Amino acid sequence: MTAGPQLAIIVPTFNEAANVGVLVERLHAALGNTRWEVVFVDDDSPDGTAAEVRRLARQNPAVRCVQRIRRRGLASACIEGMLSTSAPYIAVMDADLQHDPSLLPAMLSLLENENLDVVIGSRYAEGGDASSFATDRAAKSALATRLSRRLVPADLKDPMSGFFMMTRDALEGAVRHLSGTGFKILLDLFASSPRPLVFRELPYNFGKRYAGESKLDNRALWDYGMLLLDKLVGRFVPVRFVAFIMVGGLGIFVHMAILAALHEGLGQSFVASQAWATLVAMTANFMLNNIVTYRDLALKGWAWVRGWFSFVLACSVGAVANVGVATWLFSQESDWFLAGFAGILVGAVWNYAVTRTYTWHANG
Ligand code: GDD
Ligand code: MN
Repeated sequence: MTAGPQLAIIVPTFNEAANVGVLVERLHAALGNTRWEVVFVDDDSPDGTAAEVRRLARQNPAVRCVQRIRRRGLASACIEGMLSTSAPYIAVMDADLQHDPSLLPAMLSLLENENLDVVIGSRYAEGGDASSFATDRAAKSALATRLSRRLVPADLKDPMSGFFMMTRDALEGAVRHLSGTGFKILLDLFASSPRPLVFRELPYNFGKRYAGESKLDNRALWDYGMLLLDKLVGRFVPVRFVAFIMVGGLGIFVHMAILAALHEGLGQSFVASQAWATLVAMTANFMLNNIVTYRDLALKGWAWVRGWFSFVLACSVGAVANVGVATWLFSQESDWFLAGFAGILVGAVWNYAVTRTYTWHANG
């Protein structure tokens, strides 16, 4: 009997079929006699990454594949990969060879021999290099790093790194508190750990992507904002609710603009204008929530049509509840401001709770 792996490398993948084989070779070359395994967590990539990983796995028992269907997200993929291994040391790295596998042995020996929770491959530590980073990416990255300062230790130079190794203990302490949204799994880990994590940074050169293209687009910036918000206020209110309310606030402007255009501009009756404004505002809210609030669960095709219908239905009931509650409260207190506000609040909570479940089927 051979013992299980000492080190697991978790690699999230989306459309990386052309990279996984080379990465496995590089891991093999870098890790020598270490008992290791690599777990690719693939979100059902259309380019067939998962099939390619399984092909490699048939030749090499150190290779494993977790294939997730109808799921997206780098951080959540990493978490599921980490939970799928029994190795005492767990690394995370990208599939595209931008992270240097030859750093792994040094990371492992630091964790094994010193009292550390995490070792981070750092682009900004002394000797590190991120020059292959496009300048606008570098600027965004610097901004993101500054915003993260409330959540991570001040002396952590590269909290945005996607390349690190940690002990199982550190994972188990944090795993139930992880937010799991977006790209920033290391930041999430630091912000979610119940005790301060003891870390060390090792410089490395952030290389060029080997094949394929980056998945980090501007929407990743939104996800990042959501992660920060979740870590700051998530204990008190769900971040999706905050986003839902912000979208709802925009809906008021849409509504008033349509009402003004139809009633004032085109001279339509107030009732007809108000009805159209309501429908358009609801539709706009549905579309915005579908792209931002529920970006990870965004509906498409027929599911979009069905979702729109359920959204309009739920919000209509919400409007009735709003008016009902406000009317009742007004009859008790005759304070129009309080009554109006309470009505809106009840309607908003109802709309959020119902559409979260029935329109977007969210459970997290
Ligand atoms: N499973 C899964 N699901 N994997 C994903 C997803 C997803 O939705 N999106 C991206 N990935 C995988 C990619 O296939 C790749 O292996 C890795 O996550 C990183 O994605 P890239 O698209 O290559 O990101 P990047 O190079 O722009 O940014 C990376 O490096 C930065 C610096 O270390 C990321 O790791 C950033 O988080 C990091 O800050
Ligand atoms: Mn990359």
